[in-house]
Amino acid sequence: MEGLRRSIGWPAAALVLTCTVLVMMPTEASASRFIVGANMGWTSNVNYAIWTKGKHFHLGDWLFFVYDRHHVNVLEVNKRDYMNCNSNHPLHNWTAGAGRDVVPLYVTKTYYFISGKGFCRRGMKVTIRVEKPQPRSSTFNFAIKD
Ligand SMILES: *[C@@H]1O[C@H](CO)[C@@H](O)[C@H](O)[C@H]1NC(C)=O
Repeated sequence: MEGLRRSIGWPAAALVLTCTVLVMMPTEASASRFIVGANMGWTSNVNYAIWTKGKHFHLGDWLFFVYDRHHVNVLEVNKRDYMNCNSNHPLHNWTAGAGRDVVPLYVTKTYYFISGKGFCRRGMKVTIRVEKPQPRSSTFNFAIKD
């Protein structure tokens, strides 16, 4: 009897846990996924300064680079290497091999991405400025500054 009650007890506990997670979702799921270059993807025919214009990237959002894996790649570089299209010493090589790379934006900083293989000079470069999450209450927007 005890064993039977226990075997019923666990699925019920799992159900309660599942419901709790679902209820918590709306606050946790505010992260956005950005497909870099939208339907054009990561390619040499897109002006990424125009693509980023007006967009806000927040901590916890993520980028999705979709591209031709045979020709280009996704490298995170410093500002200087971004300016010079230097792909010799990337900060991070996000190229996984399938032409479908996910980059989680988990630091509040400016990210610089380029493609190596000569494509940076053909426009394959994008700057992503990651902002802090917006405050929950608008009250904080009226802080008095000295
Ligand atoms: C990036 O990583 C991929 C997959 O490991 C590798 O094939 C490629 O050579 C690397 N590129 C650079 C520039 O380090």
